[in-house]
Amino acid sequence: MRKPIIAGNWKMNYGPTEAEEFVAVILPGLHEIHDVERVLCPPAVSLTTVHSAIDGSEVKLGAQNMYYEPKGAYTGEISPAMLRGLCEYVILGHSERRGYFGETDALVNKKVRAALDFNLKPIVCVGERLEQREAGETEQVITTQVQGSLGGLPLNRAAEVVVAYEPIWAIGAGKAAHAHDALVVVRLIRSLLEQMYNADVAQAVRIQYGGSVTVANIAEFLSQPEIDGALVGGASLKPEFVDIVRATAEAKGHAL
Ligand code: PGA
Repeated sequence: MRKPIIAGNWKMNYGPTEAEEFVAVILPGLHEIHDVERVLCPPAVSLTTVHSAIDGSEVKLGAQNMYYEPKGAYTGEISPAMLRGLCEYVILGHSERRGYFGETDALVNKKVRAALDFNLKPIVCVGERLEQREAGETEQVITTQVQGSLGGLPLNRAAEVVVAYEPIWAIGAGKAAHAHDALVVVRLIRSLLEQMYNADVAQAVRIQYGGSVTVANIAEFLSQPEIDGALVGGASLKPEFVDIVRATAEAKGHAL
């Protein structure tokens, strides 16, 4: 059984003071919900603050990015060695990293390997652009990204990866994908993982949907047994995040 996972990607929002205030608002609600992995991914400067705020709770911490080297002359970067012990998760290859900062599948792959080496669980994002979907290239784009970003991992560690399918046109758009369209891609990702690793790995890897997830549409995605959670952007900055986690528990049969 795959444990559902809802991760809140705060992106470039909430410095330490605001992060502390926001966590104080959502933590009581998050505490009441079980059987759903709840992950907060604040910006790097707020990681230690949120780490202290959630200490002793079941809520997990994730970073939004990292470099693959453990240390050295890489101005502005954060290493897996620095995140180890602080975070359990790290988002890698988000479409904003790929689009604005030129991250390639090869770079993401190095980061994924480094994350596993340092016992961090990577949340690896893949997704097609609108023109690629309209040109009928979705399958090819996702295949290239999954093979390029997730290839060659140690067989005994591959199942620790979480994959977030985030169609780029749905991110921050206020309009999510149709659940059925997301399901088609989620199934493709699982079949690719089976080809690349084996059926056990493919069945163990958790695959999230991401892109304009709200409390109003989350159940539609999570009523699909193959969709294991969501990567939530805008709605993770609001108390609504708790409602999304609660709706996940309900959709996955862990009604409160
Ligand atoms: P969104 O962002 O929920 O604001 O669309 C999702 C993401 O980029 O992970």
